[in-house]
Amino acid sequence: MSEDRQNKDFLNVALPKGRLGETVYQRFAAAGFECPALLENSRKLIFENASVGVRYFWVKPSDVAIYVARGAADIGVAGKDILLEYRPEVYELLDLGVGKCRMAVAAPVGYHEDPARTLRVATKFSRIARDYYAGMGRDIDIIHLNGSIEIAPILGLSDVIVDIVETGTTLRENNLEVRETIVQISARLIANKSGYKFKREKILKLMDGLGGKSE
Ligand code: PRP
Repeated sequence: MSEDRQNKDFLNVALPKGRLGETVYQRFAAAGFECPALLENSRKLIFENASVGVRYFWVKPSDVAIYVARGAADIGVAGKDILLEYRPEVYELLDLGVGKCRMAVAAPVGYHEDPARTLRVATKFSRIARDYYAGMGRDIDIIHLNGSIEIAPILGLSDVIVDIVETGTTLRENNLEVRETIVQISARLIANKSGYKFKREKILKLMDGLGGKSE
């Protein structure tokens, strides 16, 4: 990282690329950290506004916590699902109350579980699934997939899935239903541990402007 990028005067912010990131940016802007160039239609990924001392990066949503944990960004916005799954070494500062969904167990409509058999669970969230079933003392076999999880029980690859449910449309359209909710999810403001110490004033100003529920 260049010296300039580490400059104490700049607050480096990793935003999740996409609609959620754009919504969150509007709130950051209203809190005094505007950077109008960010919403211009371009393929650029880094934007800064020297007059308020902020620099934004658009990154893949599941990568935000990596940038923040390693100090490439001082703060960022990450889903609670990612924080539970990867347990990055970051401070979780605020529940932003957006990006709401839930982590759930789903199965084909009418599926009957045989408690005597090892349950085959397809998921992108192996740790969350493992922790959930370990808490119930249930034997499972995790089948780790990277997307389109809903297809696994349809093709007989798994019995159930552990995945994110937002509107429920994907489940409905694939003849699946929620069996159990594991945890409610929303977007969180996270901070690098030393970034929080050295850029505390700016981060507190941002948090003040954002409001929201403190963790
Ligand atoms: C997520 C999730 C579900 C879907 C749920 O997928 O894995 O497939 O959204 O949303 P719904 O309840 O509103 O239908 P994502 O779009 O992240 O893609 P993925 O298949 O790569 O997981």
